[in-house]
Amino acid sequence: MEIHLFWAGKGTCCTPDRGTYGPSISAISVTPDFEPTVSPPSGPSQTNEKNKKGLIMGIVVVVGVVFLLLVIFFVVRRRKRPQIVDDELVSMDVRPYTFSYEELKTATDNFSIENKLGEGGYGPVYKGALRDGRVIAVKQLSIASHQGKSQFVAEIATISAVQHRNLVKLHGCCCERAQRLLVYEYLENNSLDKVLFGKESLDLEWSTCYDICLGVARGLAYLHEESRLRVIHRDVKASNILLDSNLIPKISDFGLAKFYDDKKTHISTHVAGTIGYVAPEYAMRGYLMEKTDVFAFGVVTLEVVSGRPNSDSSLEEEKMYLLDWAWHLYKNNRQLELVDSKLSEFSEEEVKVLIGVALLCTQTLPSSRP
Ligand SMILES: Nc1ncnc2c1ncn2[C@@H]1O[C@H](COP(=O)(O)OP(=O)(O)O)[C@@H](O)[C@H]1O
Ligand SMILES: [Mg+2]
Repeated sequence: MEIHLFWAGKGTCCTPDRGTYGPSISAISVTPDFEPTVSPPSGPSQTNEKNKKGLIMGIVVVVGVVFLLLVIFFVVRRRKRPQIVDDELVSMDVRPYTFSYEELKTATDNFSIENKLGEGGYGPVYKGALRDGRVIAVKQLSIASHQGKSQFVAEIATISAVQHRNLVKLHGCCCERAQRLLVYEYLENNSLDKVLFGKESLDLEWSTCYDICLGVARGLAYLHEESRLRVIHRDVKASNILLDSNLIPKISDFGLAKFYDDKKTHISTHVAGTIGYVAPEYAMRGYLMEKTDVFAFGVVTLEVVSGRPNSDSSLEEEKMYLLDWAWHLYKNNRQLELVDSKLSEFSEEEVKVLIGVALLCTQTLPSSRP
């Protein structure tokens, strides 16, 4: 029998002991000069057949593994980057960050009832925490709600473009399949209506009340005059003003906001807004302009000063409607009587200024409003 040892490099100089080293052997080939009796006889044609089968098997396995890896890769990629199904979103030049539905489900503990903050006309709002530590408020728009989708798209586009200290920040949205969700920064101190006349109302100091009115005015001035897009909010009300941990007011819900060309007054066929805050020209003729928001701001200001809602049927008839009552007091130079009885100290001067501004804002004639 001939045995051939094939050289494959110099090998180690240290293992197992320094000094015992030599070439490594890559292969041994054996040429027998006898008929082997142990293994079954295998002719050259059979070996070829076997090799062919092995090769085919090998190729099939390799192709299968590569295919499987590609499938896994694409599935993972799709999960990481939620698909944007909406053409309306794709065509937007300013597009917000999109969260995956799974991410928001985890953040809100599967939209648990314990995390529910409230429910407005468009669906429930949940508190949540993102993995990066940010605390969020997730507004889940109910698909059945009127104008649900267009409100959603308008809201995302608008809020993404405008950012200000007195506007609620929109972190992003989710629009997977039928789901429509908005992700906002969470504001610790709830909405102004709850703070002013809710069950767990806070006792605000006069300076805080004054600063809240000022902050809301700044936010509105920004929407109307300073931001790149001119925006009319259309639904300014106490529940759309949220307060952060320092009681700084932030205007929320731009869903009804509409962009409009300079000098063009909007004529809308669908009046949106909340009873008690809607300006007469908008309610009666559908005319929509910045002054519509100014009117609503006047009503909010009166609510802040008085600590009561704009309409309260439990009060005597003359006091029932805040606006009428404020006018009555103003005309009789008794406006200080409007101030919330919980306020022990306040600046008479500032109260008079705020009430004066509020009454100007709520003038019937839009051009008479500041
Ligand atoms: N970003 C937020 N941070 C904290 N609470 C919020 C936030 N957004 C909404 N909420 C709470 O959820 C409630 C429902 O909000 P929303 O759906 O806008 O209805 P509405 O404005 O008619 O009250 C609000 O009254 C507020 O208490
Ligand atoms: Mg709201």
